[in-house]
Amino acid sequence: MAAGEHESAEVSQSTTVVVIGAGPAGLTVASLLRRCGVDCVVLERHSRAYVAQRQRAGIVESRAVRMFASWGLADLVLGGAPHDGILEFRVDGESHLVDDSDGSAGPGARLCPQQVLVHKLTAAHLADGGDLRYEVADVSLHDLTGDRPTVRFRSADGARHAITCAFVAGCDGDHGVSRSTVPEGVLTAHTLDHGIGWLTVLADAPPPAHPLLAVSSHGFAAHFPRGPHSSRYYLQCPSDDRPDAWPDTRVWEALRTRLADPALIAGPITDRETFRLRSLVHDPMQYGRLFLVGDAAHIVSPMGGKGMNLALYDADLFARAVRDHVRDQDDTGLRTYSRRCLRRVWNDQEFSHWLTRTVHDAGDDTHAGPFLRHVARARLDRLFTSPTAAQAFAELMTGLDPA
Ligand code: APR
Repeated sequence: MAAGEHESAEVSQSTTVVVIGAGPAGLTVASLLRRCGVDCVVLERHSRAYVAQRQRAGIVESRAVRMFASWGLADLVLGGAPHDGILEFRVDGESHLVDDSDGSAGPGARLCPQQVLVHKLTAAHLADGGDLRYEVADVSLHDLTGDRPTVRFRSADGARHAITCAFVAGCDGDHGVSRSTVPEGVLTAHTLDHGIGWLTVLADAPPPAHPLLAVSSHGFAAHFPRGPHSSRYYLQCPSDDRPDAWPDTRVWEALRTRLADPALIAGPITDRETFRLRSLVHDPMQYGRLFLVGDAAHIVSPMGGKGMNLALYDADLFARAVRDHVRDQDDTGLRTYSRRCLRRVWNDQEFSHWLTRTVHDAGDDTHAGPFLRHVARARLDRLFTSPTAAQAFAELMTGLDPA
Protein backbone atom coordinates (compact mmCIF):
# COMPACT_ATOMS: atom_id res chain seq x y z
CA MET A 1 0.00 0.00 0.00
CA ALA A 2 1.54 3.34 -1.01
CA ALA A 3 2.39 5.81 1.78
CA GLY A 4 -0.59 8.00 2.71
CA GLU A 5 -3.05 5.55 1.19
CA HIS A 6 -5.41 4.56 3.96
CA GLU A 7 -6.46 0.91 3.97
CA SER A 8 -10.28 1.05 4.10
CA ALA A 9 -11.76 0.03 7.44
CA GLU A 10 -12.66 -3.64 7.67
CA VAL A 11 -16.40 -4.29 7.28
CA SER A 12 -17.58 -6.64 10.02
CA GLN A 13 -20.67 -8.80 10.14
CA SER A 14 -21.78 -12.13 11.53
CA THR A 15 -23.79 -15.09 10.26
CA THR A 16 -24.32 -18.72 11.21
CA VAL A 17 -22.40 -20.41 8.38
CA VAL A 18 -19.81 -19.06 5.96
CA VAL A 19 -19.73 -21.25 2.83
CA ILE A 20 -16.51 -21.06 0.83
CA GLY A 21 -17.06 -22.01 -2.81
CA ALA A 22 -20.12 -21.80 -5.07
CA GLY A 23 -19.80 -25.09 -6.94
CA PRO A 24 -22.20 -28.01 -6.50
CA ALA A 25 -21.19 -28.51 -2.85
CA GLY A 26 -21.32 -24.88 -1.78
CA LEU A 27 -24.55 -24.01 -3.52
CA THR A 28 -26.27 -27.15 -2.24
CA VAL A 29 -25.15 -26.39 1.34
CA ALA A 30 -26.41 -22.81 1.01
CA SER A 31 -29.73 -23.87 -0.53
CA LEU A 32 -30.42 -26.50 2.12
CA LEU A 33 -29.46 -24.16 4.98
CA ARG A 34 -31.75 -21.49 3.62
CA ARG A 35 -34.50 -24.09 3.32
CA CYS A 36 -34.30 -24.71 7.05
CA GLY A 37 -33.93 -21.05 7.99
CA VAL A 38 -30.23 -21.02 8.80
CA ASP A 39 -28.51 -17.87 7.55
CA CYS A 40 -25.29 -18.19 5.58
CA VAL A 41 -22.96 -16.22 3.33
CA VAL A 42 -21.38 -17.83 0.25
CA LEU A 43 -17.96 -16.60 -0.92
CA GLU A 44 -16.80 -17.51 -4.44
CA ARG A 45 -13.51 -16.40 -5.94
CA HIS A 46 -14.60 -16.61 -9.59
CA SER A 47 -17.36 -14.70 -11.36
CA ARG A 48 -20.89 -16.06 -11.62
CA ALA A 49 -20.45 -16.42 -15.39
CA TYR A 50 -17.24 -18.43 -14.95
CA VAL A 51 -18.77 -20.81 -12.43
CA ALA A 52 -21.93 -21.21 -14.52
CA GLN A 53 -20.04 -22.35 -17.64
CA ARG A 54 -17.89 -25.01 -15.92
CA GLN A 55 -19.01 -28.30 -17.44
CA ARG A 56 -17.88 -31.41 -15.58
CA ALA A 57 -20.24 -33.90 -13.95
CA GLY A 58 -23.36 -35.02 -15.78
CA ILE A 59 -25.60 -37.27 -13.70
CA VAL A 60 -27.51 -36.69 -10.48
CA GLU A 61 -27.97 -40.24 -9.18
CA SER A 62 -31.21 -41.53 -7.67
CA ARG A 63 -30.03 -41.02 -4.09
CA ALA A 64 -29.28 -37.34 -4.73
CA VAL A 65 -32.55 -36.79 -6.61
CA ARG A 66 -34.38 -38.19 -3.58
CA MET A 67 -32.31 -36.01 -1.26
CA PHE A 68 -33.36 -32.86 -3.12
CA ALA A 69 -36.96 -34.16 -3.14
CA SER A 70 -36.83 -34.63 0.64
CA TRP A 71 -35.99 -30.91 0.93
CA GLY A 72 -38.76 -29.98 -1.54
CA LEU A 73 -36.17 -28.72 -4.02
CA ALA A 74 -36.07 -31.40 -6.76
CA ASP A 75 -38.35 -29.62 -9.25
CA LEU A 76 -36.63 -26.29 -8.58
CA VAL A 77 -33.01 -27.34 -9.02
CA LEU A 78 -32.94 -30.46 -11.22
CA GLY A 79 -32.94 -29.95 -14.95
CA GLY A 80 -31.95 -32.31 -17.72
CA ALA A 81 -33.81 -35.50 -18.56
CA PRO A 82 -34.67 -38.56 -16.49
CA HIS A 83 -32.04 -41.28 -16.94
CA ASP A 84 -33.64 -44.46 -18.31
CA GLY A 85 -31.53 -46.56 -15.97
CA ILE A 86 -29.60 -48.29 -18.72
CA LEU A 87 -25.82 -48.25 -19.10
CA GLU A 88 -24.14 -49.82 -22.16
CA PHE A 89 -20.90 -51.77 -21.97
CA ARG A 90 -19.45 -52.38 -25.45
CA VAL A 91 -16.79 -55.11 -25.23
CA ASP A 92 -14.79 -55.70 -28.43
CA GLY A 93 -17.73 -54.14 -30.28
CA GLU A 94 -20.36 -56.36 -28.63
CA SER A 95 -23.12 -54.42 -26.83
CA HIS A 96 -24.28 -55.37 -23.32
CA LEU A 97 -27.05 -53.30 -21.75
CA VAL A 98 -26.94 -53.23 -17.96
CA ASP A 99 -29.53 -51.85 -15.53
CA ASP A 100 -28.04 -49.14 -13.39
CA SER A 101 -31.22 -48.46 -11.53
CA ASP A 102 -32.11 -50.86 -8.74
CA GLY A 103 -35.80 -50.75 -9.49
CA SER A 104 -36.72 -49.29 -6.10
CA ALA A 105 -39.76 -47.02 -5.88
CA GLY A 106 -39.19 -43.27 -6.01
CA PRO A 107 -37.62 -40.87 -8.50
CA GLY A 108 -34.65 -42.16 -10.46
CA ALA A 109 -31.39 -40.57 -11.62
CA ARG A 110 -31.36 -37.53 -13.90
CA LEU A 111 -29.00 -36.72 -16.75
CA CYS A 112 -28.52 -33.24 -15.30
CA PRO A 113 -25.28 -31.58 -16.47
CA GLN A 114 -23.40 -29.94 -13.61
CA GLN A 115 -23.72 -26.46 -15.05
CA VAL A 116 -27.51 -26.88 -15.20
CA LEU A 117 -27.64 -27.91 -11.55
CA VAL A 118 -25.29 -25.08 -10.51
CA HIS A 119 -27.27 -22.55 -12.56
CA LYS A 120 -30.59 -23.62 -11.05
CA LEU A 121 -29.25 -23.76 -7.50
CA THR A 122 -27.77 -20.27 -7.93
CA ALA A 123 -30.94 -18.78 -9.38
CA ALA A 124 -33.12 -20.34 -6.67
CA HIS A 125 -30.80 -19.21 -3.89
CA LEU A 126 -30.57 -15.61 -5.14
CA ALA A 127 -34.33 -15.46 -5.83
CA ASP A 128 -34.85 -16.53 -2.23
CA GLY A 129 -32.65 -13.65 -1.03
CA GLY A 130 -29.49 -15.71 -0.50
CA ASP A 131 -26.23 -13.83 0.20
CA LEU A 132 -23.88 -15.03 -2.59
CA ARG A 133 -20.71 -13.00 -3.23
CA TYR A 134 -18.62 -13.58 -6.37
CA GLU A 135 -15.08 -12.52 -7.23
CA VAL A 136 -13.92 -12.37 -3.64
CA ALA A 137 -10.16 -12.59 -2.97
CA ASP A 138 -7.71 -13.31 -0.16
CA VAL A 139 -10.09 -15.53 1.80
CA SER A 140 -8.57 -16.58 5.12
CA LEU A 141 -9.97 -18.61 8.00
CA HIS A 142 -9.30 -17.82 11.67
CA ASP A 143 -10.11 -19.27 15.12
CA LEU A 144 -11.53 -22.48 13.69
CA THR A 145 -11.09 -24.29 17.01
CA GLY A 146 -12.91 -21.60 18.99
CA ASP A 147 -16.69 -21.04 19.22
CA ARG A 148 -16.78 -18.15 16.74
CA PRO A 149 -14.49 -18.58 13.74
CA THR A 150 -13.80 -15.56 11.53
CA VAL A 151 -13.48 -15.53 7.74
CA ARG A 152 -11.64 -12.58 6.22
CA PHE A 153 -11.69 -11.64 2.53
CA ARG A 154 -11.66 -8.80 0.04
CA SER A 155 -14.88 -8.17 -1.91
CA ALA A 156 -14.79 -7.45 -5.64
CA ASP A 157 -14.63 -3.68 -4.94
CA GLY A 158 -11.48 -4.17 -2.88
CA ALA A 159 -13.07 -3.61 0.53
CA ARG A 160 -11.85 -5.78 3.40
CA HIS A 161 -14.41 -7.87 5.28
CA ALA A 162 -14.52 -10.02 8.39
CA ILE A 163 -17.45 -12.36 9.04
CA THR A 164 -17.76 -14.15 12.37
CA CYS A 165 -19.82 -17.31 12.30
CA ALA A 166 -20.65 -20.55 14.08
CA PHE A 167 -19.42 -22.84 11.31
CA VAL A 168 -17.38 -22.70 8.10
CA ALA A 169 -18.32 -25.03 5.21
CA GLY A 170 -15.19 -25.66 3.13
CA CYS A 171 -16.76 -26.23 -0.29
CA ASP A 172 -13.80 -24.86 -2.22
CA GLY A 173 -12.68 -27.97 -4.04
CA ASP A 174 -9.34 -29.72 -4.12
CA HIS A 175 -7.26 -26.55 -4.46
CA GLY A 176 -9.16 -24.35 -2.05
CA VAL A 177 -8.10 -22.42 1.01
CA SER A 178 -10.13 -24.38 3.61
CA ARG A 179 -8.19 -27.61 3.75
CA SER A 180 -4.87 -25.82 3.46
CA THR A 181 -5.74 -23.85 6.60
CA VAL A 182 -5.83 -27.02 8.70
CA PRO A 183 -2.49 -27.46 10.53
CA GLU A 184 -0.11 -30.18 9.34
CA GLY A 185 -0.72 -33.59 10.87
CA VAL A 186 -4.42 -33.08 11.65
CA LEU A 187 -5.77 -34.62 8.45
CA THR A 188 -4.63 -37.92 6.96
CA ALA A 189 -4.58 -37.93 3.14
CA HIS A 190 -5.17 -41.33 1.53
CA THR A 191 -4.17 -41.12 -2.13
CA LEU A 192 -4.05 -43.46 -5.10
CA ASP A 193 -2.58 -42.75 -8.54
CA HIS A 194 -4.30 -45.24 -10.88
CA GLY A 195 -1.43 -45.01 -13.39
CA ILE A 196 -4.02 -44.23 -16.05
CA GLY A 197 -4.17 -41.13 -18.25
CA TRP A 198 -7.36 -39.84 -19.85
CA LEU A 199 -8.11 -37.38 -22.56
CA THR A 200 -11.54 -35.87 -21.92
CA VAL A 201 -13.37 -34.05 -24.71
CA LEU A 202 -16.57 -32.02 -24.69
CA ALA A 203 -18.24 -31.68 -28.11
CA ASP A 204 -21.46 -30.39 -29.65
CA ALA A 205 -22.17 -33.86 -30.94
CA PRO A 206 -25.21 -36.13 -30.49
CA PRO A 207 -25.33 -37.88 -27.10
CA PRO A 208 -25.43 -41.70 -27.01
CA ALA A 209 -28.70 -43.60 -26.53
CA HIS A 210 -27.27 -44.72 -23.17
CA PRO A 211 -24.12 -43.77 -21.26
CA LEU A 212 -21.50 -45.94 -22.96
CA LEU A 213 -18.31 -47.61 -21.67
CA ALA A 214 -16.24 -49.30 -24.40
CA VAL A 215 -13.57 -51.93 -23.73
CA SER A 216 -11.22 -53.20 -26.43
CA SER A 217 -7.58 -53.95 -27.15
CA HIS A 218 -7.38 -50.41 -28.58
CA GLY A 219 -7.83 -48.93 -25.08
CA PHE A 220 -10.76 -47.66 -23.01
CA ALA A 221 -13.24 -45.06 -24.29
CA ALA A 222 -16.52 -43.65 -22.95
CA HIS A 223 -19.34 -41.54 -24.38
CA PHE A 224 -21.71 -39.76 -21.98
CA PRO A 225 -24.66 -37.42 -22.61
CA ARG A 226 -24.24 -33.78 -21.56
CA GLY A 227 -27.52 -32.34 -22.89
CA PRO A 228 -29.67 -32.89 -26.00
CA HIS A 229 -26.89 -31.83 -28.40
CA SER A 230 -23.75 -32.27 -26.31
CA SER A 231 -21.48 -35.16 -25.38
CA ARG A 232 -18.60 -35.86 -23.02
CA TYR A 233 -16.00 -38.40 -24.24
CA TYR A 234 -13.11 -40.07 -22.42
CA LEU A 235 -10.15 -41.77 -24.12
CA GLN A 236 -7.47 -43.71 -22.24
CA CYS A 237 -4.07 -42.28 -23.16
CA PRO A 238 -0.47 -42.32 -21.89
CA SER A 239 -0.55 -40.71 -18.44
CA ASP A 240 1.88 -37.99 -19.52
CA ASP A 241 -0.05 -37.17 -22.72
CA ARG A 242 -0.99 -33.57 -23.50
CA PRO A 243 -4.16 -32.20 -25.20
CA ASP A 244 -2.19 -30.94 -28.21
CA ALA A 245 -1.21 -34.55 -28.98
CA TRP A 246 -4.90 -35.09 -29.81
CA PRO A 247 -6.01 -33.00 -32.80
CA ASP A 248 -9.67 -33.41 -33.83
CA THR A 249 -8.97 -36.02 -36.50
CA ARG A 250 -7.08 -38.21 -34.06
CA VAL A 251 -9.84 -37.84 -31.42
CA TRP A 252 -12.65 -38.90 -33.78
CA GLU A 253 -10.60 -41.69 -35.33
CA ALA A 254 -9.79 -43.15 -31.91
CA LEU A 255 -13.39 -42.82 -30.77
CA ARG A 256 -14.77 -44.53 -33.91
CA THR A 257 -12.28 -47.39 -33.43
CA ARG A 258 -12.68 -47.84 -29.68
CA LEU A 259 -16.47 -47.36 -29.64
CA ALA A 260 -16.63 -49.74 -32.65
CA ASP A 261 -18.80 -47.17 -34.36
CA PRO A 262 -17.41 -46.12 -37.75
CA ALA A 263 -20.48 -43.92 -38.31
CA LEU A 264 -20.05 -41.98 -35.03
CA ILE A 265 -21.18 -38.40 -35.73
CA ALA A 266 -18.52 -35.80 -34.88
CA GLY A 267 -19.09 -32.20 -33.85
CA PRO A 268 -17.17 -29.07 -32.79
CA ILE A 269 -14.92 -29.84 -29.82
CA THR A 270 -15.45 -27.19 -27.14
CA ASP A 271 -13.13 -28.50 -24.42
CA ARG A 272 -10.17 -30.82 -24.43
CA GLU A 273 -7.94 -31.76 -21.48
CA THR A 274 -5.76 -34.60 -20.28
CA PHE A 275 -5.34 -35.74 -16.69
CA ARG A 276 -4.10 -38.63 -14.60
CA LEU A 277 -6.78 -40.62 -12.79
CA ARG A 278 -6.26 -40.24 -9.07
CA SER A 279 -8.31 -40.79 -5.94
CA LEU A 280 -7.96 -38.93 -2.67
CA VAL A 281 -9.67 -39.01 0.73
CA HIS A 282 -8.95 -36.72 3.68
CA ASP A 283 -9.79 -38.05 7.12
CA PRO A 284 -11.38 -36.55 9.14
CA MET A 285 -13.48 -34.16 7.06
CA GLN A 286 -13.56 -31.64 9.89
CA TYR A 287 -11.28 -29.41 11.98
CA GLY A 288 -12.91 -27.58 14.85
CA ARG A 289 -15.80 -25.65 13.31
CA LEU A 290 -14.56 -26.13 9.74
CA PHE A 291 -16.41 -28.87 7.85
CA LEU A 292 -15.03 -30.04 4.49
CA VAL A 293 -17.67 -30.80 1.85
CA GLY A 294 -17.25 -32.40 -1.61
CA ASP A 295 -13.98 -32.15 -3.52
CA ALA A 296 -12.40 -30.20 -0.66
CA ALA A 297 -12.44 -33.51 1.22
CA HIS A 298 -12.23 -36.19 -1.48
CA ILE A 299 -11.55 -36.82 -5.16
CA VAL A 300 -12.90 -39.89 -6.90
CA SER A 301 -12.16 -41.15 -10.43
CA PRO A 302 -15.00 -40.07 -12.79
CA MET A 303 -15.81 -43.71 -13.70
CA GLY A 304 -19.04 -44.14 -11.75
CA GLY A 305 -20.13 -40.48 -11.80
CA LYS A 306 -19.70 -40.30 -8.03
CA GLY A 307 -17.80 -37.00 -7.63
CA MET A 308 -20.66 -34.54 -7.71
CA ASN A 309 -23.06 -36.96 -6.02
CA LEU A 310 -20.76 -37.42 -3.04
CA ALA A 311 -20.60 -33.61 -2.74
CA LEU A 312 -24.41 -33.51 -2.64
CA TYR A 313 -24.50 -36.23 -0.01
CA ASP A 314 -21.95 -34.44 2.19
CA ALA A 315 -23.94 -31.20 1.80
CA ASP A 316 -27.13 -32.92 2.95
CA LEU A 317 -25.49 -34.35 6.07
CA PHE A 318 -23.84 -31.01 6.93
CA ALA A 319 -27.03 -28.98 6.49
CA ARG A 320 -29.04 -31.40 8.63
CA ALA A 321 -26.33 -31.32 11.31
CA VAL A 322 -26.32 -27.51 11.48
CA ARG A 323 -30.14 -27.42 11.47
CA ASP A 324 -30.24 -29.83 14.43
CA HIS A 325 -27.64 -27.74 16.27
CA VAL A 326 -29.47 -24.45 15.71
CA ARG A 327 -33.06 -25.72 16.14
CA ASP A 328 -32.69 -28.49 18.71
CA GLN A 329 -29.29 -27.80 20.32
CA ASP A 330 -28.49 -31.36 19.20
CA ASP A 331 -24.86 -31.81 18.07
CA THR A 332 -25.08 -35.49 17.16
CA GLY A 333 -25.01 -34.72 13.43
CA LEU A 334 -21.98 -32.44 13.81
CA ARG A 335 -20.11 -35.03 15.86
CA THR A 336 -20.84 -37.86 13.42
CA TYR A 337 -20.55 -35.83 10.19
CA SER A 338 -17.09 -37.00 9.21
CA ARG A 339 -17.62 -40.67 10.09
CA ARG A 340 -20.93 -40.86 8.24
CA CYS A 341 -19.63 -39.07 5.16
CA LEU A 342 -16.46 -41.17 5.04
CA ARG A 343 -18.43 -44.41 5.18
CA ARG A 344 -20.21 -43.36 1.98
CA VAL A 345 -17.03 -41.92 0.46
CA TRP A 346 -15.11 -45.20 0.90
CA ASN A 347 -18.09 -47.18 -0.39
CA ASP A 348 -18.09 -45.07 -3.54
CA GLN A 349 -14.28 -45.08 -3.79
CA GLU A 350 -14.37 -48.88 -3.73
CA PHE A 351 -17.01 -49.00 -6.48
CA SER A 352 -15.24 -46.42 -8.65
CA HIS A 353 -11.94 -48.27 -8.20
CA TRP A 354 -13.57 -51.61 -9.13
CA LEU A 355 -15.14 -50.10 -12.26
CA THR A 356 -12.02 -48.18 -13.26
CA ARG A 357 -9.79 -51.26 -12.94
CA THR A 358 -12.30 -53.51 -14.69
CA VAL A 359 -12.82 -51.41 -17.81
CA HIS A 360 -9.10 -50.64 -18.18
CA ASP A 361 -7.58 -54.03 -17.28
CA ALA A 362 -10.07 -55.80 -19.58
CA GLY A 363 -8.71 -53.92 -22.60
CA ASP A 364 -5.18 -54.50 -23.80
CA ASP A 365 -2.47 -56.61 -22.18
CA THR A 366 -0.01 -53.71 -22.11
CA HIS A 367 -2.09 -52.01 -19.40
CA ALA A 368 -2.19 -54.60 -16.64
CA GLY A 369 -1.02 -57.82 -18.28
CA PRO A 370 -2.85 -60.94 -19.47
CA PHE A 371 -3.71 -62.31 -16.04
CA LEU A 372 -5.56 -59.17 -14.89
CA ARG A 373 -7.13 -58.88 -18.32
CA HIS A 374 -8.71 -62.31 -17.85
CA VAL A 375 -9.75 -61.36 -14.30
CA ALA A 376 -11.41 -58.18 -15.57
CA ARG A 377 -13.12 -60.02 -18.43
CA ALA A 378 -14.48 -62.52 -15.88
CA ARG A 379 -15.91 -59.65 -13.83
CA LEU A 380 -17.67 -58.26 -16.91
CA ASP A 381 -18.96 -61.72 -17.85
CA ARG A 382 -20.39 -62.11 -14.33
CA LEU A 383 -21.99 -58.66 -14.52
CA PHE A 384 -23.65 -59.58 -17.84
CA THR A 385 -24.83 -63.07 -16.81
CA SER A 386 -25.53 -63.06 -13.03
CA PRO A 387 -28.72 -61.29 -11.86
CA THR A 388 -27.19 -60.97 -8.37
CA ALA A 389 -24.06 -59.30 -9.69
CA ALA A 390 -26.24 -57.03 -11.84
CA GLN A 391 -28.37 -56.08 -8.81
CA ALA A 392 -25.29 -55.24 -6.75
CA PHE A 393 -23.97 -53.12 -9.61
CA ALA A 394 -27.28 -51.30 -9.99
CA GLU A 395 -27.43 -50.55 -6.27
CA LEU A 396 -23.95 -49.05 -6.31
CA MET A 397 -24.68 -47.03 -9.43
CA THR A 398 -27.84 -45.54 -7.91
CA GLY A 399 -26.06 -44.73 -4.69
CA LEU A 400 -29.01 -46.26 -2.83
CA ASP A 401 -26.99 -49.10 -1.35
CA PRO A 402 -27.80 -49.57 2.31
CA ALA A 403 -24.54 -47.89 3.49
N1 APR B 1 -12.18 -18.74 -2.14
C1 APR B 1 -13.44 -18.79 -2.67
N2 APR B 1 -13.85 -19.76 -3.54
C2 APR B 1 -12.95 -20.70 -3.88
C3 APR B 1 -11.63 -20.72 -3.36
C4 APR B 1 -11.26 -19.67 -2.45
N3 APR B 1 -10.04 -19.62 -1.91
N4 APR B 1 -10.97 -21.79 -3.88
C5 APR B 1 -11.85 -22.42 -4.70
N5 APR B 1 -13.03 -21.77 -4.70
C6 APR B 1 -14.24 -22.14 -5.45
C7 APR B 1 -13.96 -22.56 -6.89
O1 APR B 1 -13.87 -21.41 -7.73
C8 APR B 1 -15.18 -23.40 -7.21
O2 APR B 1 -16.24 -22.64 -7.75
O3 APR B 1 -14.81 -23.29 -4.86
C9 APR B 1 -15.60 -23.97 -5.85
C10 APR B 1 -15.33 -25.47 -5.74
O4 APR B 1 -16.21 -26.13 -6.66
P1 APR B 1 -15.84 -27.60 -7.26
O5 APR B 1 -14.40 -27.64 -7.56
O6 APR B 1 -16.83 -27.90 -8.36
O7 APR B 1 -16.06 -28.59 -6.03
P2 APR B 1 -17.43 -29.15 -5.42
O8 APR B 1 -18.45 -28.08 -5.29
O9 APR B 1 -17.03 -29.95 -4.25
O10 APR B 1 -17.97 -30.13 -6.59
C11 APR B 1 -17.48 -31.42 -6.64
O11 APR B 1 -18.57 -31.44 -8.83
O12 APR B 1 -17.18 -30.36 -10.26
C12 APR B 1 -17.91 -31.52 -10.09
O13 APR B 1 -17.59 -33.81 -10.43
C13 APR B 1 -16.97 -32.63 -10.03
O14 APR B 1 -16.33 -33.96 -8.12
C14 APR B 1 -16.60 -32.66 -8.57
C15 APR B 1 -17.84 -32.15 -7.88
